Amino acid sequence: MRALSQLKTLLSPELFHKLPPPKALVQATWSRLHGLGHIVRSPFGGTRGIPAPTVTLDGDCRAGCVYLVGAGSGDVELLTLKAARLLQQADAVVYDRLVGDDVLALIPAGHERYYVGKERGHHSVPQAEIGALLVKLAGEGKSVVRLKGGDPGVFGRMGEELAALAEANIDAEIVPGITAASAAAAGMGIPLTDRAHAQQLRFITAQLCRKDGEPDWATLARQDETLIFYMGLTKVDAICTGLRRAGLPDDWPIMLVANASLPEQASLVGTLADMPGKLAESPLPSPCLIVVGSVVRMTETSPVGARAAATSTAAH
Ligand SMILES: C[S@@+](CC[C@H](N)C(=O)[O-])C[C@H]1O[C@@H](n2cnc3c(N)ncnc32)[C@H](O)[C@@H]1O
Repeated sequence: MRALSQLKTLLSPELFHKLPPPKALVQATWSRLHGLGHIVRSPFGGTRGIPAPTVTLDGDCRAGCVYLVGAGSGDVELLTLKAARLLQQADAVVYDRLVGDDVLALIPAGHERYYVGKERGHHSVPQAEIGALLVKLAGEGKSVVRLKGGDPGVFGRMGEELAALAEANIDAEIVPGITAASAAAAGMGIPLTDRAHAQQLRFITAQLCRKDGEPDWATLARQDETLIFYMGLTKVDAICTGLRRAGLPDDWPIMLVANASLPEQASLVGTLADMPGKLAESPLPSPCLIVVGSVVRMTETSPVGARAAATSTAAH
């Protein structure tokens, strides 16, 4: 409605009354978005008398090229414009488990789509088979989007896919996406780094916290750093114990954020000493991200915290 009254201020009364009703207007804007890879923004968001900025999406989607695209953390509005365009243009889309239905809905009907993610209790499609599928599709002269949750370059096995494409002499491009760490921090209303809290930021795969693959806890136990553990929901106990043994205080802050950026986002905020107990009492679903560091204390005062607070327990 606000957009409509802004539009009214920009057009002559005769022209304004010739406009279709608001719903049709929105649909027309969306159909342009869906159509053609060429969008000119309407004056919706513009300021009175000043033309609104124009976004032109007329990039190509090359036959025989594989685009390794980040789908972001789940919220479809966190998808990049480039990712949305390529999804609408590509002949084939090969996608993973953590890609949401809203994002997949952008693929036009009739375009090829291949699911290569892991079903609950089943194994994922082996990486070599995914590489072979990408090579085959691009080799048939198709434009291919390889769509991955978050950013394809963060714990996304993109290196192996790039190697398979390079070996087969297939052209590739990378389109970054919003990684879960950025989405979780934003959802909880905190920065990942802060002058007063953390001058360093580390992304760690918790898969290392196995019996035979311990991370170097001594190098991780720093008080000037934010640690982000991916794939760590079943390793919370090991992480808390490892960091405490390496010297971080019992009351050092830790936060768990599940389904970051989605309406079902849920979180727990606590300390290294009490988080395993809190998680046992209130289990969180997957996917879940673990944030360790004093930036977590900023959830207590963040003005963004209202939605987050509804699902979290407070830090000490
Ligand atoms: C294989 S990694 C892929 C990471 C992805 N490439 C990224 O940049 O976010 C999967 C892990 O990412 C984290 N993750 C992905 N999406 C998430 C979300 N919406 N909320 C919380 N954690 C998420 C979880 O730790 C999950 O186990």
